[in-house]
Amino acid sequence: MTEPIRILFVDDEANIIKAMRRIFDEEKYEIFTATSGKEGLSILRDNAGFAVIVTDQRMPEMSGAEFLSKAKEIAPDALRIVLTGYADVTAAVDAINKGGAHRYLSKPWQENDLLHTVQDAVQLYSLHLQNRRLADLVRRQNEELKEWNSRLGQRVLEQTRQMRLQNENLKEINTRLKTSLDGTLSSFAALLELRDPSERHHSGNVAVLAVKIAGEIGLPPNEVETIRAAALLHDIGKFGGSGILLTKKPESMTFAERIAYEEHPVRGQTVVSGIDSLRPAGVLVRHHHEYWSGIGFPDALRGDSIPLGARIVGLADFLERSGGGRDREDAVAFVRDALHREANTRIDPSLVAAGEKVILEVPIFCLGGGDVAEIEVRVERLAPGMLLTRDVVSGTGVLLLRAGAVLDGTSLAALHRILRSDPSRSGLYVQGEKETSCSGSTPGNDGCPQVPS
Ligand SMILES: [Fe+2]
Ligand SMILES: [Fe+2]
Repeated sequence: MTEPIRILFVDDEANIIKAMRRIFDEEKYEIFTATSGKEGLSILRDNAGFAVIVTDQRMPEMSGAEFLSKAKEIAPDALRIVLTGYADVTAAVDAINKGGAHRYLSKPWQENDLLHTVQDAVQLYSLHLQNRRLADLVRRQNEELKEWNSRLGQRVLEQTRQMRLQNENLKEINTRLKTSLDGTLSSFAALLELRDPSERHHSGNVAVLAVKIAGEIGLPPNEVETIRAAALLHDIGKFGGSGILLTKKPESMTFAERIAYEEHPVRGQTVVSGIDSLRPAGVLVRHHHEYWSGIGFPDALRGDSIPLGARIVGLADFLERSGGGRDREDAVAFVRDALHREANTRIDPSLVAAGEKVILEVPIFCLGGGDVAEIEVRVERLAPGMLLTRDVVSGTGVLLLRAGAVLDGTSLAALHRILRSDPSRSGLYVQGEKETSCSGSTPGNDGCPQVPS
């Protein structure tokens, strides 16, 4: 239900009051009248919500201006109108200044003038009220929005904190998974080498060479990781065939044996791709015997259509096989010649420079047929220059250093510090005395390459 619109008329002449009532008879206003300022103030005090106050200026005891000035304090929102005589300009000014009158009408007034003036004032009053309500609403909504924003801010902070925690957990799980995957890779490679002693360290050596070549040409770490995994597992498909595949050189195989041998990359891919995260490595395993010239197997891919990682693993495989069992000087010269001879036929010519650099850095005469011994040492016996032959994993499963790393002062200090509080359960293994072409060297100081187990 809407509030009634209240109007107060104040005039000391009863017949004027009567006339005013009559004028507004048909309007939907609630009309109050008073015959003096005093009575008018009393009505205002007893009844709230007046929209318009109309008063005569000239009244005994209290003038219209005085009355309006007091009425303003009681009903500040009401619009005030004063009625004055023609010549009474001072009184009108007074009423406006003191009483805050909104308008004045000259006496005698026209009925219509009074009616329209009051109607306009009522409309203005309604607009003021509406504005105020809207302003209140906006203010309240702003406060609610502020409150909501602040709650939202807290929620976002809390969610960010939760996400950070989850991220840290995921990171830890990832590290553990990676460590466990590394262990699996090393185990597979070791299994292959166990099957045939002549293959000893082959996969690990190929991994060392492939990682170095990949680093040399600036491949990003994730690609290097895939290449490393593929290199460790590149010949795993030989497991599926007869022992001949492992023991006989391809060039002395019969036709049937050769066909079986050429299936090993595809069988290898099938095995490796069984582990989701190793699928990309599986592709490289499939193509490690492709030739740049297009006469390799299993798919006879040519040039750039051979995945770069597979070209690198193939090159590393070739270097390892070529360098095996020779002494250093012979091996370097022999492999370098082979490298140049095979460029454009077997090997991607753009990788020759990297291959040449790597054979100078990695003493390949220790690779291949060489029988590199591995010894377990206590942490306090570790020394600069020693070559790790297995990953170093802390007691709580954190991978600290990969197989193949050569210890220096910094890595040694870090290992000592971490392993003191979190000792490894899987042991520390380094390269020891060699029995063939590297014989006579002391462990680690001959610069022999990594031999991941
Ligand atoms: Fe192979
Ligand atoms: Fe191989």
